[in-house]
Amino acid sequence: MAEAAENLPPVADIFNPHSPEYVDNPVPQCLALAERGPLVWYEPWQAWIMTHMDDIMKCWKEEPLSSDFYDWEFAPQRPPEDQWSNFERAMIGHSLLADQAHHRLVRRVTAPAFSRNVVDNIQAKIEPEVRKLFDDLGEPETFDYIEEIANHIPFISITRMVGIPEKYWPQIKKVILTFTETWNPTISDEQREAARQDSNRAIDIIREVIAERRLDPGQDDFLSTLLRIEAENKGFEEGDIITLILALIGAGADTTLVAQQWTVYSLLRHKEQIDTALASPEAFSNAFCEINRWGVSSKMGFARYAPRDMEFMGQTLRKGVMVLMMPHLKDYNPDYYDNPETFDVTRTFDPDVMFGYGPRYCIGAALAKRQLFLTVSELYRRFPNIELAEEPERDPGDHNAIVFKRLLLRTNCA
Ligand code: HEM
Repeated sequence: MAEAAENLPPVADIFNPHSPEYVDNPVPQCLALAERGPLVWYEPWQAWIMTHMDDIMKCWKEEPLSSDFYDWEFAPQRPPEDQWSNFERAMIGHSLLADQAHHRLVRRVTAPAFSRNVVDNIQAKIEPEVRKLFDDLGEPETFDYIEEIANHIPFISITRMVGIPEKYWPQIKKVILTFTETWNPTISDEQREAARQDSNRAIDIIREVIAERRLDPGQDDFLSTLLRIEAENKGFEEGDIITLILALIGAGADTTLVAQQWTVYSLLRHKEQIDTALASPEAFSNAFCEINRWGVSSKMGFARYAPRDMEFMGQTLRKGVMVLMMPHLKDYNPDYYDNPETFDVTRTFDPDVMFGYGPRYCIGAALAKRQLFLTVSELYRRFPNIELAEEPERDPGDHNAIVFKRLLLRTNCA
């Protein structure tokens, strides 16, 4: 029987994703938090945490809460429209996040931009760049996978995918690395503000790129596709294109970087499963779910905000309060997975929720998996005898995920 709440230690004592213990092994803390109930108040972040999968799936699907960062009680004030900077224009004015009806419209009209054909074309552009990374690497005895390969992948794929010309790359590089900090509630106001400034500059560049592209539209990338969609769809405008590009940067950069590290690390820890994992893009797609489950790299989860004072899952939520959905809490729970300690790339995932679920399902899922498959396959093709040169030290400094300080690999190619 559950212990009376007054006999239990405060939640912040059993769960702290920024603690060294969590970074070292998040599993006991994740399990302990989920034990506290389906919706748990987390004082340090002034947020509710949703811990059970059936509630999370329902919330993903039915969207009773807001996804708009500006609905958060601690978000900066929404300034009047005549004072909007680039950032506010993109995040409020045409927000993909704010208005559910507009979000559905954007998802519907942009679906062709993520069709199989377009993803294949984008992939074809990324492939030579990935090969070049490995060519430049040569055949060193050891190398840091993060420094030499993983760090470059989000940038390569986002610039190639969107179609940002090389002359703009140095300016856009920084924002790709810091964009998600603009709305992270767990970092300082100063850090968030600095990230916002970077975004303002990046939006100027994106505007320039769009203006150039309007003069020379016939290219085979995401931007040209979006400009065609803009011409054909009332209600979808340049502001939506900018917001969408920012969303791709925000959602596609950090995630890819983390995924690269954990994919290589997990597979090298289980070398006997590499051939199975890389047998086909489909096999890899399943293996990636297992990599993600086994690694439990998440520190935060997915944020939503109460749109008004409301009753929700038996609790009274004040307007603007944050609710974090944490699907990763289940990853070592034996009620969800048999033998959760065992890494098995053929494990069945039903449902597979790695990329979310429902109306906000990840736009970039196909691209992310293909890009990972491509890079990791190239790594093993070049270095069939590669191994971890050391157990990597974890970096406690990352705001969002458990990552490694470096991932030193020994090529054994001599
Ligand atoms: C391994 C890498 C990735 C993972 C694990 C991942 C996971 C997710 C998840 C779980 C969501 C839902 C978030 C929520 O409900 O709040 C999401 C949304 C999204 N993802 Fe990804 N993602 C990845 C890579 C990418 C990439 C490469 C792109 C862009 C090319 C991308 C673009 C997006 C966008 C735009 C959304 C918001 C969709 C919407 O609100 O309609 N993601 N992603």
